[in-house]
Amino acid sequence: MSERSTMKIEQADRLKALPPYLFAEIDRLKAEVAAKGIDIISLGIGDPDLPTPSNIIQRLKEAADNPAHHQYPSYQGMLSFRRAVAGWYGKRFEVDLDPAAEVVSLIGSKEGIAHTPLAFINPGDVVLCPDPGYPVYSIGTMFAGGESHTMPLLEENSYLPDLSTIPGEVLNRTKLMFLNYPNNPTSAVATRKFFEDVVTFARAHNILVCHDAAYTEIYYDGVPPLSFLQVQGAKEVGIEFHSLSKTYNMTGWRIGWVCGNREAIKALGKIKTNIDSGIFQAVQEAGIQALEGDQRPVEELRDIYQARRDMACEFLSNMGFSFAVPKAAFYLWVHTPAGLSSAQFAGRVLQETGVVITPGNGFGDHGEGYFRISLTVGEKRLEEALGRIKNLSW
Ligand SMILES: Cc1ncc(COP(=O)(O)O)c(C=O)c1O
Repeated sequence: MSERSTMKIEQADRLKALPPYLFAEIDRLKAEVAAKGIDIISLGIGDPDLPTPSNIIQRLKEAADNPAHHQYPSYQGMLSFRRAVAGWYGKRFEVDLDPAAEVVSLIGSKEGIAHTPLAFINPGDVVLCPDPGYPVYSIGTMFAGGESHTMPLLEENSYLPDLSTIPGEVLNRTKLMFLNYPNNPTSAVATRKFFEDVVTFARAHNILVCHDAAYTEIYYDGVPPLSFLQVQGAKEVGIEFHSLSKTYNMTGWRIGWVCGNREAIKALGKIKTNIDSGIFQAVQEAGIQALEGDQRPVEELRDIYQARRDMACEFLSNMGFSFAVPKAAFYLWVHTPAGLSSAQFAGRVLQETGVVITPGNGFGDHGEGYFRISLTVGEKRLEEALGRIKNLSW
C-alpha cells in the first residue's frame, strides 16, 4: 500500500455537523429504478428546463470576444451591471438604489446567501431561518459558527412565520433573519402587511433582514409579487438577494446580486473581496442584456408556467390531493396521502412509477407530510408523470 493512501486528514467539525443528506435515499432509489430500464421523469429539481433567451446568449458571445473582459473582474461587479440592476429595480418595484453603494454582484444568489452570516455572525449569535426552507440559510449560519432558530411556516398562517412566537431570550442573541417570498418550497407569497410588520420587528430587535427574492418574476394570473424593499423603512433594516437564474433561465450562468442597506452590503463586500474575484465580465454583459433588453421572453415564460400550473393543479385536485394553488414560483406544495410520510410517499412514487418528487422533510421538520413538485418540465411530460401517479393506489 502506498504511503499516500494511508494518509487521513480529519474533516472539520463543520462538515461533520452537516445534517444528513435527506435526498440520499431518493438518489439511491433513482439509480435502482433507472437500472431496471424504467423511464424516469424528474419533478424534483427547481432548475428551469427552457433555454436562456437568444439575445442574452448573443451578447455573451460578443462580449467573450472582447479582450477587455478577459482579466479579473472587480468583486463588487461592473458599475454598468449594477446600474442595470438599479434601473430594473426602479422600473419593476419603484425602488431607488444607488448602484455604487447599494448593489453588489453575486456568483448566483446562493453564494451571497451562504456568505452573509460570515459577515455578521459570531459564535452564539442566532439567525432566524424559515422551516421548511432553502437549506443554505441554516447551513451558511452553521459554517459561520452561528445558531439557527427555526421559524415554522405553517399552512394556517399562509406559510408566513409568526414573529410573536420567537422567545425573547432568542431575540436578544439574534442578528439576522432570512425570509424568502415567493417561497421555496411552499410557493407562498408575502403580503405588504407582513413585510411592514417585519420592518417594525427588525427595528425593535435590531435584526438585519435578509430577503431572498429569487422567484419574484415567476408569477401567475398577472399579479406580480412584492419586493421587501418596496415597504417603507425596509432599506434601513434589510438587504434583498436576487438572481437572473429563474427569470431568464440562467441557472448555469451563476449571476445574481444583493441590494439594499449600504452598511450591510459593504460588510458582505468585505467578505467577498477576501474570497472571490467576481463574475466573468462577459457574463455580466449578458446580465445587462437580460435586465435592459426585450422582456417579452419573460412574459412568454410566465405563460408557459401558467399553463403547466393550471394543468397540474386540476390534475392533482381531481386526484383528491390537498394543496394551495400557488400564486408565484414554480412549485406545488402538496399534502401526502393520509398515513404516509413524505419519504414513504416519495419512495413509493419513484419505485412504482419512475417519477421523482421531493419529500417535504428535506426542507426541514415542518415539511413533513408534504411533497414538492417542480413545474420545470414540459407540459406533456408533466401530464405523463401525473398520470402515472394517478394509477397508483394507496
Ligand atoms: C429560494 C432560493 N434562493 C436562492 C436560490 C439560488 O439561486 P441562484 O444561486 O441560482 O441565484 C434558489 C435555487 O434554487 C432558491 O430556490
